[in-house]
Amino acid sequence: MTDQNDKPARKKLGLTPKNDGEAREGKRKPTRWSPLQRDRSKPVAKKPAATEDRPAREDKRRPSGPGTGQGTGPRPARERDAGASGPRRPAAEGREERKRPPTRPRDEDGEHAAPRRRATPAAPAQLKFFVPCPRGLEHELARELAELGAGEVVAGSGGARCTGDIALAWKINLWSRLAIRVLQEVADGNYRDEDDLYRVTLKQPWSDWFGVDKTIAVRTVAHNCPLKSLNFVTLKIKDGVVDRFRQDLGERPSVDAREPGVPILLYLDNDRFTLYLDLSGEPLNRRGYRVEPAPAPLNENLAAGLLRLSGWHPDTPLLDPMMGGGTILLEAAMMALNMAPGMKRHFTFENLASFDKVEWTRLRKDAEALRQEPRQLPIYGCDIDPHMIRAAGLNLKAAGLLDCVVLREGDVTEIPAPGEHGMIVSNPPYGVRLDSDSAFYKGLGDALKRNFAGWSAWLISSDAEFPKSIGLAASKRIPLYNGPLECRLYEYRMVAGTMRKKAPG
Ligand SMILES: C[S@@+](CC[C@H](N)C(=O)[O-])C[C@H]1O[C@@H](n2cnc3c(N)ncnc32)[C@H](O)[C@@H]1O
Repeated sequence: MTDQNDKPARKKLGLTPKNDGEAREGKRKPTRWSPLQRDRSKPVAKKPAATEDRPAREDKRRPSGPGTGQGTGPRPARERDAGASGPRRPAAEGREERKRPPTRPRDEDGEHAAPRRRATPAAPAQLKFFVPCPRGLEHELARELAELGAGEVVAGSGGARCTGDIALAWKINLWSRLAIRVLQEVADGNYRDEDDLYRVTLKQPWSDWFGVDKTIAVRTVAHNCPLKSLNFVTLKIKDGVVDRFRQDLGERPSVDAREPGVPILLYLDNDRFTLYLDLSGEPLNRRGYRVEPAPAPLNENLAAGLLRLSGWHPDTPLLDPMMGGGTILLEAAMMALNMAPGMKRHFTFENLASFDKVEWTRLRKDAEALRQEPRQLPIYGCDIDPHMIRAAGLNLKAAGLLDCVVLREGDVTEIPAPGEHGMIVSNPPYGVRLDSDSAFYKGLGDALKRNFAGWSAWLISSDAEFPKSIGLAASKRIPLYNGPLECRLYEYRMVAGTMRKKAPG
């Protein structure tokens, strides 16, 4: 969240004639926002009611998970929805050569015995999932999972557990804005050493779950694990998988550490293990629209989480006055138009025997039907750096959302509010100004009081100086993590006529 580019704008860059015009209006001048040209001819579909009345239960067990978006999510869709392909992620092993060509053995009837691609999964109908998310968003994730139809949802540390059929997992991959990935639990229990883990891995019917032609990679995540070498454990799990394949089929899958077709994850704590199939592959925050990098971008899951935590509703004007690459605006516009965040990507569950292309196509078609046509939205973005106007514009364009959002160049301490009321959601820069950070925060607080009466501001920062220097009393402080960085999300309510620090209420 630090920013290297917090310099006054030197030249204006626009992406659309309108934004160009706004940028040209005057350098660093508090220019007007474009009037909203909202297309009233198109009906605004109502979002499904959030299941706020179903608070997630606190996880009292061990830390739930390995690893650590709002969504107006899908309407409660049809009873059964389906799911999709192709991840990339590092793993603990290097690429290994396949010992034999990936020919499939024949069974007694001369049929190919593997890989077995069946419409009906061999796994039990009710599966257990662990869904990691950025820390601090577990309860929001639990609500989102419940909205998507998950059963037995329990928020834990770094994610939430839930149950459902395999189509639920596809739906979470397609629709969740907060989830980092979806893990399907295949085994769990106690362990003492690596041999225990090897034996339990060997017992699993891996070739029922995926074909020998699929590549694998094993990753181990551990908390308080007494074993000496996690690399060795990882190797033992891989051995267990390939040995079981050899037993069953006489051949083994190859390892591809970079882009495995089937990523396998082992989670270890002090004395218990859980073995998962990773159904997502590449983390779900990679929506496929970030084409132009910006310094210190917010993770998409976290951006969506901020919007959910703020209680923002798509009818409320939204402004990110320090938008950088525009992540918050993008997530907000996707929510407003009910766009499924996973539509532009593939998932590793597409490589499993449980994958059903017909069901998955239907689920995607449902999502397409639920998506509203792009229209101008009351969503505004601003940055002092003209390169960020360009970056945000390119990212919005890649998502097909450029015309939905108003962008302009400007200094947050000088711009006027784009309306009489609304919500600011933003992550201010920090950490690069060093001793002048507190002056910036004070200027930001003054500007909010001066120019944004009637608005509320939700600002995330990891800087302990921030709440002290901004000179406003926070009505909420929500602990969150931006990767390893501990942050707080602060809510400030700008009451008209209030210029002094005063506790709300
Ligand atoms: C931490 S980054 C925001 C990253 C953004 N949320 C994203 O996901 O890409 C902070 C941004 O604030 C901008 N900024 C710094 N000072 C500013 C000011 N006075 N007015 C407006 N924007 C400013 C920087 O140019 C930078 O893009």
